[in-house]
Amino acid sequence: MSMSPTSEAAVLFLVTAAALQLSAAAVAAGLQQRIAKPGCNTTCGNVSVPYPFGFSPGCYWPGLNLTCETSHGGTPRLLLGDGTLRVTEIFIENATVRVMRAGSSAVINATGTELNSDGWNVSFGRGFAEYGYKLSYVNELVVFGCNVVARILADNGGKPPRSIGGCASFCTTIDLGDQYSIVESVGLKGEYCTGIDGCCRASLVVSGLPNEVQAKWLYSENHTAWQDVLQVNVLVAEEGWVYKYMRALETNNEPEEEVPIVIEWSVTQDLPQHSDEEPDSTCPDHVSRILCKSEHSQCSIEKPGYTCGCEEGYDGNPYLPGGCQG
Ligand SMILES: *[C@@H]1O[C@H](CO)[C@@H](O)[C@H](O)[C@H]1NC(C)=O
Ligand SMILES: *[C@@H]1O[C@H](CO)[C@@H](O)[C@H](O)[C@H]1NC(C)=O
Ligand SMILES: *[C@@H]1O[C@H](CO)[C@@H](O)[C@H](O)[C@H]1NC(C)=O
Ligand SMILES: *[C@@H]1O[C@H](CO)[C@@H](O)[C@H](O)[C@H]1NC(C)=O
Ligand SMILES: *[C@@H]1O[C@H](CO)[C@@H](O)[C@H](O)[C@H]1NC(C)=O
Ligand SMILES: *[C@@H]1O[C@H](CO)[C@@H](O)[C@H](O)[C@H]1NC(C)=O
Ligand SMILES: *[C@@H]1O[C@H](CO)[C@@H](O)[C@H](O)[C@H]1NC(C)=O
Repeated sequence: MSMSPTSEAAVLFLVTAAALQLSAAAVAAGLQQRIAKPGCNTTCGNVSVPYPFGFSPGCYWPGLNLTCETSHGGTPRLLLGDGTLRVTEIFIENATVRVMRAGSSAVINATGTELNSDGWNVSFGRGFAEYGYKLSYVNELVVFGCNVVARILADNGGKPPRSIGGCASFCTTIDLGDQYSIVESVGLKGEYCTGIDGCCRASLVVSGLPNEVQAKWLYSENHTAWQDVLQVNVLVAEEGWVYKYMRALETNNEPEEEVPIVIEWSVTQDLPQHSDEEPDSTCPDHVSRILCKSEHSQCSIEKPGYTCGCEEGYDGNPYLPGGCQG
């Protein structure tokens, strides 16, 4: 039996149309699946929760569980760890999470008279390091106070801790005849935290596991009145936060109570440990196979664990089958 050319064309058309419909459905399904496992909630409040993160059983890779707190009534809050950190954004492409810390985020917060003349070594209130997250280098150390120098120390793979950032904060005084006034919290030339306005800031040189903040008076024998009165505050915040904070103070707007911090994550649990001796070795094949489920994905070692990415030209979630789309 032979078909006429027209019916042949009609069949071809039907087949093509069916194929198109199928692939449209596949794309739609792919888009749905790209962010989380099937049947898993992908949002908590207005925060999008992509796999390997999740907050319901079976929806996350071990260790990357979060809590979606709905009990308090308002917008659900996505919490990490013991609940002191609120997650506002999860980034798959560069393996970071932005979290907010409540007002008392200062590592050191005391008045001058409360502080020891020898200086203070205060352990960094972690809240994330014990869960396998690192402090990202996109944060900065912020120091408020007069004549104070501070630095932040981080784990150094068994060796003595290394400094990953530090700065000194002075208070410039202005002679107003009988009185001296501190130039404090004042934008000089539109800048804040320049180191002479009662505040300084320093970029972190590398990402790391912070374990201590050390602070000292710069002139131990000559305390000024300001030193004793002014609150000394040392904290870590995402770069740019302190500028907005100071601007808000200066323009008499209520500054944000919460402080944003960017932390880095990697997948550590249920995977073989990699050795310190080969810092730049590539992912073992079996890690790549069980973790980076999508085609066109690649695995990389990001201490303490592993992460996945889509190959160049592809986008999406490399941890899910079909996640990386061209
Ligand atoms: C999960 O999603 C459903 C539907 O969007 C919603 O009704 C439910 O409250 C969500 N659960 C949580 C814990 O957010
Ligand atoms: C989520 O809601 C908060 C306040 O309700 C808002 O400030 C924030 O920009 C929202 N985030 C996103 C990603 O829409
Ligand atoms: C994940 O769940 C375990 C067990 O419930 C809990 O101990 C741990 O704190 C959770 N991890 C995070 C990061 O919330
Ligand atoms: C990660 O990617 C997001 C979105 O592309 C970007 O906003 C953020 O600044 C990046 N973070 C880091 C630490 O590079
Ligand atoms: C520092 O402590 C004072 C008084 O205890 C408190 O009012 C203030 O909010 C604290 N500041 C920070 C940044 O933690
Ligand atoms: C803080 O630590 C440094 C270096 O470990 C040490 O030299 C200093 O004596 C310590 N200061 C205090 C007050 O403990
Ligand atoms: C401290 O004060 C004394 C006496 O007022 C002065 O001689 C000395 O130079 C001051 N030291 C510093 C570091 O400012």
